[in-house]
This record gives sequence, structure tokens and C-alpha cells, in this order.
Amino acid sequence: MAKKFYITTPIYYPSAKLHIGHAYCTTVADTIARYKRLNGVETYFLTGTDEHGEKIQKNAEAAGKTPKAFVDEIVAGIKDLWKSLEISNDDYIRTTDERHEKVVQQVFSRLLAQGDIYLGHYEGWYCTPCESFWTDTQVGEEHLCPDCGRPVHKAKEEAYFFKMSKYADRLLKYYDENLDFITPESRKNEMINNFIKPGLEDLCVSRTTFTWGIPVKENPKHVVYVWLDALLNYISALGYLSEDDSKFKKFWSDDCEIVHLVGNDITRFHVIYWPIFLMALGLRLPDKVFVHGLLMMKDGKMSKSKGNVVSPVPLIEKYGLDAVRYYLVREVVFGSDGTFTPEQFVERINIDLANDFGNLLSRTVSMIAKYFDGVIPEYQGNLNEFDEDLEKTGLHTVEFYHKDMDSLKVTEAFEEVFNYISRANKYIEETKPWALAKDETKVNELKSVMNHLANALRQSAIMLQPVLLKAPKELFNQLGISEDLQTFSSLTKVDAMGGQHVNKGNPLFPRLDVNVEVEYIKSLMNNK
Ligand code: ME8
Repeated sequence: MAKKFYITTPIYYPSAKLHIGHAYCTTVADTIARYKRLNGVETYFLTGTDEHGEKIQKNAEAAGKTPKAFVDEIVAGIKDLWKSLEISNDDYIRTTDERHEKVVQQVFSRLLAQGDIYLGHYEGWYCTPCESFWTDTQVGEEHLCPDCGRPVHKAKEEAYFFKMSKYADRLLKYYDENLDFITPESRKNEMINNFIKPGLEDLCVSRTTFTWGIPVKENPKHVVYVWLDALLNYISALGYLSEDDSKFKKFWSDDCEIVHLVGNDITRFHVIYWPIFLMALGLRLPDKVFVHGLLMMKDGKMSKSKGNVVSPVPLIEKYGLDAVRYYLVREVVFGSDGTFTPEQFVERINIDLANDFGNLLSRTVSMIAKYFDGVIPEYQGNLNEFDEDLEKTGLHTVEFYHKDMDSLKVTEAFEEVFNYISRANKYIEETKPWALAKDETKVNELKSVMNHLANALRQSAIMLQPVLLKAPKELFNQLGISEDLQTFSSLTKVDAMGGQHVNKGNPLFPRLDVNVEVEYIKSLMNNK
């Protein structure tokens, strides 16, 4: 396991408010970053915003604002959103930051000087009112602008190009030698068949049809193509080419594991263009681009115009941070597409958090209060097959949890933990502590049950810490667990509990009324 870890999310467009889909990727990244830190790995977690381009310029014009004033306002909202989800990013990069713009200009100059970028012409169908180029397919046989419907004409414009094809073989070799580079693997075949095999075309890396971008130093009527600008955030944020490049040296190094999380809408940019730009700069390539699926609504992709967008903010206000974070991380298998439905949101909270986890704690604390005056009995060893099985399941869970988290199977890791919690609930039914309590000769067995339950709760809460930020602390408090027994390194201790005083507290997660809450969430969706 690498001792250092660098994880990034895509930098989002501040063209409108973010929705639960963006929160999905950022929350998973945060969960992974927290896991790594708890595991003693020096971690750097980056997120940010991609603020240039024609779309932003147009949205700003429509809002009667300068592009900078327009993005500043949205970025403030995005930062608030990450604050309410308690995202633990170490830095927030904006492509309008001077530190970033400088790097982009220097990189462009360097690639130009070394001949990877050259000046040529961009040819296509041009719509004058929209100031946009379109391809043959986009304008169709009638040659109409797909945006405004007016006739377009053939036009030719000066533009800079990047020699993509020069690096295609090296890229394929990198894929072959680094089987995990594109995860899940299915995404890799898609990329090879759709883009690389047909031949990589040179990429147009400058625009002259709008001004909201980073000017090319050598020819300032051109602005740098947004994707070249945006992708460089991953190194500009670390101080690449800047006076203080200590973070770059530390985290863009061979002994650091570098992971980009991206949605499957932007795979191509991250697994083709980005590695090629890095090769051209003579820099190491990331270890992994993890491609996650998109959260859909029942009626298709979330979009503002459809009005089917869900904002995480009112959900956090109503159901709490832990419930929203847990839903995001647990409901949709990381790497697959999923659908957001209010019904599943409420069920997930009720079944896993309120019934299985919350109830297990309440029952355990109540029984310890009732049978042992609130003091957790000492470990008795494994007195029967049930104790033994629960303990084994715990150790197995710890092992697989680490394996899954380290290979970014985040959903599966928490599924393991909840299987363990279910196993502990079943253990109560099997051992019947209420019956043991009636028989004085069974006091050791009763002690053992309470001790095993307390330890199962302790282990589960430790493993849930990367995703649940409140409930584990509350659980440690209710079970009187000292700090040294809240750590990852204490996870495999089977005899950790004994002697602690329990404190009865509120339920971790109140049970929700399904009908009422589903209606409430639907009303949030209709308001948007
Ligand atoms: O593409 N479900 O920004 P963007 C899950 N600026 N994830 C979703 C989602 C959904 N419904 N919708 C968005 C850009 N995402 C560029 C990125 S990176 C150098 C530049 C997440 O605001 C997902 O991770 O359109 C997706 O890839 C990303 O947001 C796109 O965000």
C-alpha cells in the first residue's frame, strides 16, 4: 500500500447550482479520503470548479453579469454545499485562480515550443449569430444551426492543434501495462474501440469565437480550449511549475497513489487526452481513473429543464448529514448507474440506519443497563457457536472492508459492514438474552452476549466513520468507548470491551414515516 494518496473529483462547471449527482461523486471521494487518513495514509484531496468557456460566458450575459461575478456567486454556493456535506477537501481549485492560469499559459507555451501544439485551421459549419462551429452531422442535410435553427455557412478559422496521434501507441502500451488504470474495465474497451482504434485526430486546443478563457500568450486573440485548461487543475493545484512546488513533488510522485474519480460522461477526456498531455510534459501518469455511473431520475437524466433535479441541501436539513451521505455512498454501486427515488431514499434510511444499526445500539445499551447496571461485562471468550460465528464474521468483515476500500469498491465495503450488523441482530435472536437473564446459571453466557454485541457495535462504528460523521461518535459515547478503541488499529481486537459504562441516549436515526417523507421529497423535486 502506497504511503501517500492523492484523490480528485472532476472540477464542476459553475453554470448552475449543483445537484445530488455532483454531491454523489464528491461524497464518495470524501469517504475514500477519510478512509485513507484514518488508515494512516498521508492524503491530499482536491475538488474545485471549471470556470471558463463559452457556455459560462453566455449564461453570465443572460444573467446580466460579468463572467467572473457570475461564477463567484455560484462558486460561493458550491463551497457552502461542500461545507454542509462536511467535505474534507484539502484545497479548492478554481480555473480562474491566478495560480492556475499561469500554469496553463506556461504549459501551452512549452507544448508549442516543443512542437506538440501547432497553428492550423479549424473548418466547419459556422453560425454567425451563435458564434459557433458545428460538424456535418450536427447541421444535418439542411445545414441549420442546431441551437437557433438559422442557416449556417462553411467557415475556416485559425486554431491551434495538439498532435494526439503521436502518443496513441504509448497510451495503449500504458493501458496494457496498467490494467487498473481505467476502472471498471468495461470502460476501457469502450474507449479503445470508439476512439483509439478509429485513429486519434489532432485536437483543437484554442478558440477565437469567445473571450472568456485563458489567453494564449503568444497569440492572445486565442483562448486555451477549456478541457486543456481544466485538466491541468490536477497539477496546477499542487504547485506544478510554481515557485513553491513542494506539494507537487510530494503528491505527483512515484510513491504516491494518484486517483481521479470521474463520471462516465467525461471518461474520454481523462483516459485519453489527460494521459497524453502528461506524456508530452514528461510527467508520470495517474494510477487510476475510476469511472462512476450517473444517478438518474425515473424519467431519465437529472436536468434543470426537466425540473427533476434534487438538491442535497434540504435533504440534509431534514434527514441529517449522515443519512444523506450514507444514501449516496451505499445506494448506488460505485461504478454503476443508479436511479434516485424518494422511496428508496427513505427505505435505505429506515432499514439500514434506523432498524438495523440504530436499533442494535438501543437494544444493546438497554440490556446492559438492565442486566448489568450499565457496565459492559468483561470478555468471556467464545462460549458457544454463536459467539464464535459472530466474532469470525467481525474479523472477516474487517478484512474485506479494507480490501474493498483499497480497491475503491466503496459501496461493497459498507455493504459488508451492514451484513455484519445484520449478523449481530440475528445473534440476539439466536442467543435470546431475555431468556438467559432468567436463569442464574447462564450469567456468563449473558455476559458474553453483551460483550460481543458491544464489540460488534464498536467495530461497525469504526468502519462507518469515513461515511457517517455523527453517528459513530454518538455510539462511542453511548457505549463509553475510549479514544484508543475508536481507531482502525483496534479493529481486530476481539476482547476490547469490558468495564465501560454505557450512557443511554437518543436513537441514532429516528424511523421515518414512508408515505409522509416520500411526499415531502417529491415536493422538493417539483419546486426546482
Ligand atoms: O464535466 N450522477 O463538469 P460538470 C452522478 N467541468 N454524477 C454526476 C451527475 C449525475 N447525474 N451529474 C454530474 C464537467 N455528475 C467538467 C469536468 S474535470 C477536469 C472537468 C458528476 O459540472 C460526475 O462526476 O458537468 C460528472 O463526471 C461530473 O459531475 C461532471 O460535472
